Amino acid sequence: TNGSLVDPFGRAISYLRVSVTDRCDFRCVYCMSEHMTFLPRKELLTIEELERLCRAFLRKGVRKLRITGGEPLVRRNIMQLFETLGSHIGTGELDELTLTTNGSQLERYAAGLHDAGVRRVNVSVDTLDPDKFKAITRRGDLGIVLTGIRAAQKAGLAIKINAVALKGVNEHEISDMIRFAHGEGMDITFIETMPLGEIEGDRTDQYLPLSEVRRQLGEEFTLEKIPHKTGGPARYVRLSETGGRVGFITPMSHNFCESCNRVRVTCTGTLYMCLGQEDAADLRAPLRASEGDELLSRAIDEAITRKPKGHDFVIDRATQQPSVSRHMSVTGG
Ligand code: GTP
Ligand code: 5AD
Ligand code: SF4
Repeated sequence: TNGSLVDPFGRAISYLRVSVTDRCDFRCVYCMSEHMTFLPRKELLTIEELERLCRAFLRKGVRKLRITGGEPLVRRNIMQLFETLGSHIGTGELDELTLTTNGSQLERYAAGLHDAGVRRVNVSVDTLDPDKFKAITRRGDLGIVLTGIRAAQKAGLAIKINAVALKGVNEHEISDMIRFAHGEGMDITFIETMPLGEIEGDRTDQYLPLSEVRRQLGEEFTLEKIPHKTGGPARYVRLSETGGRVGFITPMSHNFCESCNRVRVTCTGTLYMCLGQEDAADLRAPLRASEGDELLSRAIDEAITRKPKGHDFVIDRATQQPSVSRHMSVTGG
C-alpha cells in the first residue's frame, strides 16, 4: 500500500540508503579484506530495477535517498540513476538525493551530480597524511581525493567529511582535520568503527570511543551543542573558534537506534532493516516476478513489520569474529 512506512516501534521510515555496487577501488582496512571477491555482475539489480525500487519507496513516504556502495561512482551508468532519481525532487516527492563516496571519481562526476539535483555529498577521508591514507585505504591516493573535493565545491556541492576514528592511527590528527575541514567550509563527522564483516587485523585494538575524542576536543575548543538535523545518526556541535560543525556517530558507545528513520537495500536487492542485524528481505524476486509493483510493495510492507529495535554489535573476543558477517561494502553503511 501507499502512504507512510511505520515500524513496530512507531518509527517512520523516511530515509532509504541504496547500495549500487559492492565494488570499490579502495580496500579500507576496517571495511574490506585485502582480497575481496565481488559479486558477479548478473546478480546486481539493473539501473532500471534500482529506479523502480526507489520509486516504490518514494510512494511509501521515503523523502531522502542516499546512494552508497562499495563506491557508488564506480558503477557503470550511475549518472543515469542520479538523473532519474533527481527528477523526483522537482515534483516534490523527494527532499534530498545524496551519496556517500570515497571521492576518487568526484572530479569527473561533480558537475553532473549537481545537475542531477544533488546538493550535498559525504566524502570519506580518515587522515590528511598521504602515507597514512595509503595505509588505511590500501589503494587510495589522497591527492586525487582532495582534487575531487575541490571539484565538488566548485560545482556547488556542500561537503561533509566522514572520518572513522581509529586508535593509534588518526587519533592525534583529529583537531588538524577539523581545522582543515572548517577552513574549507566543510562539516566533519567522526564515526566509531563497527565490527562488520571479516577483515584482517584486530578490531578491539582500533576502536576509539568518541566520548574520549570529544573530551579532548573540549580542552582545545568551545563545543556548543546544536540541533543540526540531517536525518542521519550524527549529533553535532559547533566550535566557537572555527564556526564550523563537528558530528559524532557513536553506534558503539551510545546507540542512537530509538530515533532510527532508515532502512538500506543492497545492490542485489536485499533489504536490511538494520545495519547491525542479519535479518533481511529479498526484494529482487518480487521486482523480477512481474512488471507491476504490487508484489514489491507488499514485500516492503511485510519487511518493515520486522524492523528490529536496534543493533547489538559484539565482537567475540576469543575468535575476533564479528556478529554481523557481511561487509560494510555490501550494506553500504
Ligand atoms: P547525513 O545525511 O549527512 O546525516 O549522512 P549519514 O550519516 O546518514 O550517512 P553517511 O553515509 O555519511 O554515514 C556515516 C556513518 O554512519 C557510516 O559509517 C554509516 O554506516 C553510519 N550509519 C548511518 N546510518 C546508520 C545506522 O542506522 N546505524 C548504524 N549503526 N550506523 C549508521
Ligand atoms: N565502521 C564504521 N564506519 C565504517 N565505514 C566503512 N566501514 C566502517 C566500519 N567498519 C564508513 C566509511 C564511510 C561510511 C559509509 O562508512 O568510511 O564514511
Ligand atoms: Fe571503499 Fe568506502 Fe569500503 Fe573504503 S570504506 S573500501 S572507500 S567502500
